[in-house]
Amino acid sequence: VDLDLHRGETSLRPISTQDVQWYHSIELAPGEVTPGWFDLRSVAGRLPWPDLNGKSCLDVGTFDGFWAFEMERRGAAEVVAVDVLDPARYDWPAGSDDAISNAFEQRKRGGQGFELACEALGSSVERRDMSIYELSPEELGSFDLVYLGSLLLHLRDPVGALEAVRSVCTGNLLTLDAIDPWLSRALGGRAVASLDGVGRPWWWKPNEKALTRLVESAGFVIEHGPLRISMPPGKGQPRLGLKLALLRSHEGRVALRSSRRGDPHAAILARPA
Ligand SMILES: C[S@@+](CC[C@H](N)C(=O)[O-])C[C@H]1O[C@@H](n2cnc3c(N)ncnc32)[C@H](O)[C@@H]1O
Repeated sequence: VDLDLHRGETSLRPISTQDVQWYHSIELAPGEVTPGWFDLRSVAGRLPWPDLNGKSCLDVGTFDGFWAFEMERRGAAEVVAVDVLDPARYDWPAGSDDAISNAFEQRKRGGQGFELACEALGSSVERRDMSIYELSPEELGSFDLVYLGSLLLHLRDPVGALEAVRSVCTGNLLTLDAIDPWLSRALGGRAVASLDGVGRPWWWKPNEKALTRLVESAGFVIEHGPLRISMPPGKGQPRLGLKLALLRSHEGRVALRSSRRGDPHAAILARPA
């Protein structure tokens, strides 16, 4: 693997780290960090992890694998990572444009980022190409910890997905997902979510109370959280300028806030009821 991320030297291999549009900032070798859309390295230490030593873990929607590698680093004996490698199989709302789906495919490139990172880190994480809805003990067995990051937002049926997660979870679920902080502020006492569902696989953004309710209604008991966390942008994410056009719409203000202060999320540690 060509680890020279900055100088652009030619690699003898057909695919190098420079060909990948990284989602995660991952330190592949000392000082060599991939230019991810998000740099979650500072977030990892803030999550309410249970002890992972010798445990079996599942990372759902792994992308470049940052969280799967983190669980391995924390002593997990076995880590399985699942992902949908062809974005055409995401939950697209009706009427979505092919150009957007093609742009997703370009970024995903069949999950090459994960493969490169896995090799560079000498990781033994096993990746499976399957949807969260297809999780079952018959297919995968069961896990002491299931990690679910920034995925509920992209699902048409988050409760159905969480029920599938519960079917393979014997210990804990740790979820860190997008929330709508405006709904938390304005209607924090009620479980409410905003709905996108236009042109791209973005669906429900709950407030913290609704995220909690989603997890509980799929058959989990909350052990910790919700804990508010901002997902810091990485070097691969362009910083949006302070433009009047952005400030005029709610979506523009959300994008501006995420680009500067990180994408608002909340973490919950739960266990099957
Ligand atoms: C926003 S990224 C989050 C990446 C990573 N989980 C994290 O927390 O940083 C969403 C990931 O979910 C995957 N995904 C989308 N739909 C999925 C589905 N139905 N089942 C499993 N993974 C899915 C995407 O391929 C992508 O890897």
